[in-house]
Amino acid sequence: MSGHVAGGMTIQPAALEDLDAIEALEAAAFTGDRLSRRSLRSFVKAEHRPLIVARFGATVAGYALISKRRDGRTARIYSLAVDPAQGRRGVGRALLQGCERYARAHGCDALRLEVRYDNAAAIALYEKMGYRDFGRHERYYEDGATALRFEKRLAAGNEASPTGGR
Ligand SMILES: CC(C)(COP(=O)(O)OP(=O)(O)OC[C@H]1O[C@@H](n2cnc3c(N)ncnc32)[C@H](O)[C@@H]1OP(=O)(O)O)[C@@H](O)C(=O)NCCC(=O)NCCS
Repeated sequence: MSGHVAGGMTIQPAALEDLDAIEALEAAAFTGDRLSRRSLRSFVKAEHRPLIVARFGATVAGYALISKRRDGRTARIYSLAVDPAQGRRGVGRALLQGCERYARAHGCDALRLEVRYDNAAAIALYEKMGYRDFGRHERYYEDGATALRFEKRLAAGNEASPTGGR
């Protein structure tokens, strides 16, 4: 299967053999609002391959799930998680870049996502990658927590890259 290679990592569509690893990541990363095995399987099989994984060799280090309205110009990151044992190695950043390539390839010019108001690590990642906070959904999560809404415009030439540091 083809994929995008960056920094020793491969980003490619998930395969059925990856489901155990993705389910384990989901369990490690989230306490509520988890994706079921059944829906993960349906995303692996979906025509547009919206579930992508990051691998170091054969090891799945993270995954992301993108959704897109049929006629829409906006794609949405539905879920993103990195193995805690592989944190701060650039996996989250590479997955975000993979989501942005996916969105562009599907004719979208913006990518949106929701994040818990208290998820400092994810918020730092999104801000670093050029996403801007544009609103909120109250009582969005199972436990009643607020979601912040982030967006990045994907205009031509606006390649995925950190906005500061490095
Ligand atoms: C948030 C998450 C995806 C980050 O993944 P990651 O692979 O560790 O992130 P990266 O290594 O690509 O980090 C890129 C940048 O994001 C920021 N960042 C990432 N983790 C951070 C943390 N714990 N604290 C502060 N900043 C952080 C930093 O700016 C970092 O750059 P640096 O390492 O050069 O300082 C990961 O911690 C995770 O899966 N968390 C649990 C699930 C989750 O919250 N998903 C998002 C739901 S919306």
